[in-house]
Amino acid sequence: MDTITLALAKGRTAKDSIALLEKMDIFFKEFHEKSRKLVFHSTDKAVKLIFVKAVDVPTYVEKGAADIGIVGRDNILEAQADVYEMLDLGIGKCRFVVAGYADPDLKDKQKLMVASKYPTVTRNHFQKDNRSIDTIKLNGSVELAPLIGLADCIVDIVETGTTIDENGLTILEEIETISTRLIVNKASFATKTATIQDFINRLKETLE
Ligand code: PRP
Repeated sequence: MDTITLALAKGRTAKDSIALLEKMDIFFKEFHEKSRKLVFHSTDKAVKLIFVKAVDVPTYVEKGAADIGIVGRDNILEAQADVYEMLDLGIGKCRFVVAGYADPDLKDKQKLMVASKYPTVTRNHFQKDNRSIDTIKLNGSVELAPLIGLADCIVDIVETGTTIDENGLTILEEIETISTRLIVNKASFATKTATIQDFINRLKETLE
């Protein structure tokens, strides 16, 4: 069997993803979330894990630096990477929303200023309704933007709703629900079909 290189997203779903892999009998003895190590080998040497920023997982997989990736659909949508999206892992469930102050005048504004870590998702969402916007790309703490007048509203992911609540914002629109997915490089799927298909089947069985 071929070795598979798996790009795993750092962050809040990493622990659950590793737990899923362990249920498939894939163990990374040296892995722990606080480690500064970036490459890990499974005890059976079948899987090489690269531990990367979530936003970069689709790129690693699209470019073939990784055969498969485990990452949130938010990052897949934003990257618009040319990869196969094969499985919903049922973890990391959250929603893409438009959030801001509950201000009735917002909908009458000619052009909204929207801050987001996801400018592509933001543009696509507002384009569907033919609404004119300017986007401001931020890299974190996006909820701050409406509070200090940098933007009229934000497009962001909401999991528990705590960040929105604690900053006095409300959800103005629901965009879509998202969760963690398994993605596959197209060329790898053609050249390592049996190994990747076997991995997918085992993951499916684990999820059932
Ligand atoms: C994400 C997201 C929200 C928050 C939502 O940010 O961008 O800010 O989590 O989670 P909640 O609904 O459970 O409060 P993250 O924690 O990744 O940090 P960041 O703002 O630095 O990107």
